[in-house]
Amino acid sequence: MSDIPALEVHGVSKKFGNAHALRDVSLTLRKGEVHSVIGENGAGKSTLMGIICGRLQPDTGTLQRDGKQVRFASPREAQSSGIAIAPQELNVLPMLSVAENIMIGAQPRGTFGISWSETRKLAEQFLHEIDEDIDTSTPMGELSAAHQQLVQIARATASHADVLIFDEPTAMLTDREAEKLFLFIARFKQRGGSVLYVSHRLNEILELSDSISVLRDGELVAQIDPAEATKEKMVNLMAGREVKSLHISGLRKQNNDQRETVLSVQNLTRKGEFEDISFDLRKGEILAISGLIGSGRTELGKCLFGLQPPDSGKVLINGREVVHSSPSDAIQNGLIYLPEERKKEGLFPLLSVAENICIASLDRFKGLFGLRQGAMVKRSAPYFSSMKLKAADPSIPISTLSGGNQQKAIIARWLMKECDILILDEPTRGIDVNAKFEIQALLTELTDKGLSIVFISSELQEVLDVSDRILVMHEGKMKGLVETNSVTQERLLQIAMT
Ligand SMILES: Nc1ncnc2c1ncn2[C@@H]1O[C@H](COP(=O)(O)OP(=O)(O)OP(=O)(O)O)[C@@H](O)[C@H]1O
Ligand SMILES: [Mg+2]
Repeated sequence: MSDIPALEVHGVSKKFGNAHALRDVSLTLRKGEVHSVIGENGAGKSTLMGIICGRLQPDTGTLQRDGKQVRFASPREAQSSGIAIAPQELNVLPMLSVAENIMIGAQPRGTFGISWSETRKLAEQFLHEIDEDIDTSTPMGELSAAHQQLVQIARATASHADVLIFDEPTAMLTDREAEKLFLFIARFKQRGGSVLYVSHRLNEILELSDSISVLRDGELVAQIDPAEATKEKMVNLMAGREVKSLHISGLRKQNNDQRETVLSVQNLTRKGEFEDISFDLRKGEILAISGLIGSGRTELGKCLFGLQPPDSGKVLINGREVVHSSPSDAIQNGLIYLPEERKKEGLFPLLSVAENICIASLDRFKGLFGLRQGAMVKRSAPYFSSMKLKAADPSIPISTLSGGNQQKAIIARWLMKECDILILDEPTRGIDVNAKFEIQALLTELTDKGLSIVFISSELQEVLDVSDRILVMHEGKMKGLVETNSVTQERLLQIAMT
């Protein structure tokens, strides 16, 4: 392999308004290496990737590709130079099939235009590369967020690029799907491909990286040799200070046996999605639901929230049977569900951060002359500090926030609403380790005040850290309900698989 780097970034700066998203950042991506970029939410990672893949233009600085200076005026130009990205946010065409989404712009042509059979065949091949078996004729919009993410990854690999950028590829994936991606990356490297990798999951950074660069407030503050890296070292560099603890364990694991049941789910079934699910949620408890993608967790959450009806079974809240035909029924009964897919189901991109936080509680902000903006800004202020929500100003559009900070705003929205039962679907995905810890602590505090939480998460460590009990699901079925302090990660996987 030649010594000329696949890509060099020299002194790149980028401002949005007056805010520096990147300041004089330089890095080198060698051929055949995985170069990870880490940093807290809002550190500038996605902005840097956006510049490299031609979506954004730098204010100053240059890029070199295989030793030659380049300028990408558009993502298309970056693509034709062999750079492809699987972006952080889902960016798919919901009406088109999976095959079309993967092959978009690169569809094979036959004598009579685009060859659909060939398109499907190739798309299947690319999915096969990441070991996924998704029906390529399904309309994209019908897939779960996690599967859409996998298709997005397959699309990047389909472009025949030799530089691949993954911006939080695993945020929505369970460990098993993530492992498949890592195997793909290993093969890609062997073929001489180079990878820029962004993730908040520090274990994977340690597992994958050949180099690690740390961004903090838009500046490159360190390059770490992975051989000498530890999680603590990375977190401290990201935060710019000594961070005491990364785990919340010990705060919980209280005995809830004696507490009253607030939510009782009895033999709940929705055909093809989940079957015969029964559990009791006690007051002040955090009950986690763990399982692989497609285990029916999200569908269960949506059903409890009245987004889709069950086929059979019962739901009781405080001992009284309830039927939720719509979310407003559920909200009236004190139950709220925070969806996993924020962009599609939760975000109002043109509204401000404060409005996005307050939108579920608008009745509180009605004044004589419409909504009281000042009150909204004031009322949302505490969440900025308690969640480390980073925004230049609460009145800027939420779409200008980094991915992780958007997610925090949406969590704040539902915490403000005040309810008795909160179902959180992958709430901390894309949130940096430090802020994640703050959010977990905040949730624990709320349960002390009587809130009961159902916590859906693909990350086993997080499930073990935050919950009192764990319901394990697999392919729509309940595989076990265990006390958190009696299990390990290995045991959870075992329960799911047997
Ligand atoms: N289009 C935009 N308009 C204004 N500000 C922006 C825009 N895009 C990003 N920013 C700002 O630039 C900074 C860096 O954002 P970026 O998305 O690069 O962070 P990140 O490191 O990817 O964070 P995360 O881990 O949350 O994804 C943030 O302060 C963000 O608010
Ligand atoms: Mg980002």
